[in-house]
Amino acid sequence: MTYLLDLGSTKVSCLAATVSEAGDVLACAAASVPCRGLSRGVIQNLDATADAIREAIARVRAIASQDAPTEVVVNVSGSHVESMNAQGFVPIYPSGRTIAREDLLHVVNHSRQIVSEPDRTQILAMPREYRVDGVRGVTNPLGFSGTRLEVITHILTGSMAHIQNVENAVQMAGYKVAQVIAQPIASGYGVATQSDRELGCAVVDIGGGSTSICVFQGGAPAYSVVLPVGGSHVTSDLSKLLKTAPDEAERLKTEYGYAIAREAESLGSVEVHQIGQQVPRHLERRVLCEIIESRMKELAIMVRQEIESSGLHGLLPGGVILTGGGSELNCTSDLFDLTMKHMLVRSGRPRLKGPASNTANRPEWAGAAGMMNYLTDAQIDPIEPAQDGSNWKRKLMGLKSMFTAKAGA
Ligand SMILES: Nc1ncnc2c1ncn2[C@@H]1O[C@H](COP(=O)(O)OP(=O)(O)OP(=O)(O)O)[C@@H](O)[C@H]1O
Ligand SMILES: [Mg+2]
Repeated sequence: MTYLLDLGSTKVSCLAATVSEAGDVLACAAASVPCRGLSRGVIQNLDATADAIREAIARVRAIASQDAPTEVVVNVSGSHVESMNAQGFVPIYPSGRTIAREDLLHVVNHSRQIVSEPDRTQILAMPREYRVDGVRGVTNPLGFSGTRLEVITHILTGSMAHIQNVENAVQMAGYKVAQVIAQPIASGYGVATQSDRELGCAVVDIGGGSTSICVFQGGAPAYSVVLPVGGSHVTSDLSKLLKTAPDEAERLKTEYGYAIAREAESLGSVEVHQIGQQVPRHLERRVLCEIIESRMKELAIMVRQEIESSGLHGLLPGGVILTGGGSELNCTSDLFDLTMKHMLVRSGRPRLKGPASNTANRPEWAGAAGMMNYLTDAQIDPIEPAQDGSNWKRKLMGLKSMFTAKAGA
């Protein structure tokens, strides 16, 4: 049984999952606990986060009737997570011999020898494409003869301090971190199928305090980013402008909100309970939705600009797939559709099997479900850190590389 923890800006979710003999990912137990320990995807309060982790794992253990796990897989989010594509090459000696697994390790390690700021570390290095003697698009070079092996690797980096805090929170809750997975990668694998990934698509996870984007091309991630804006910003706009408590703003948003205000044109008014007022005020629903639309439109434009800056927006026949709790706002995919120009937009959610699938297949579970999909789907192999790592860096088994080429298989 694998325990996957999604540390979100509004809640901590825990999923216990396993893989059936047929290779399906089974959601065995799932529970989430509200948590105010993170802001915009980054831990701000260790105690609150550790408490929520402890509680979420305890609930899942109770549902699954399992002993306590020693290790958990956990996500890392926040706008400090950045991606790049790096190239590496190695000569093959003697010239023309067949390429072996060690050559793949060497070439990926070579691509990871990039200079980064001292306070950052690599979270992931994933080969996207190999080239053998200049022949492009090789997915599995094992057994090829050649004189020169090249690779293009998708590398994610993050702030060492923020990643360390994730580990600290998990340790304070009484568990060890088995692996750290970056949020965009988790959500990407949570909702994009293998054919979506091969076609080319962008997965956009609209959370509470952040929105992660993972653009896939040729089956592998090519661009990953986390924006520090999510559904909580919509709630906070409503709370400020309508002078309501945050809970009331959240209720108004989830019960009456639309991302496109004109859809609420003829829907009458809603009662708004303002702070310090005994009598609720009547507000046209269209006005409520105008506040929502303006923030959601700003988010959609930011997402479009990010996808455009990846340079891959013309290469995404699989379209834009929206997920995360924030995407459950009515008309969100219509608004994104209007904003994304020539890209198709649809909603996506995990598609796990098993007893807890009803819970785990909701959009806000994309991250937790995706971590399990990623671990099972991908062939993952440990490689040594590119830079000389301290102990904790080595322990963070996020410093692993995925061999899409099924190296060693
Ligand atoms: N039905 C709904 N309509 C509108 N918004 C919704 C709905 N359901 C959930 N949300 C919003 O989804 C957001 C929470 O989403 P999610 O659980 O994916 O975030 P998170 O994982 O806690 O945060 P993050 O990923 O940003 O760290 C909240 O802002 C909440 O208001
Ligand atoms: Mg989230």
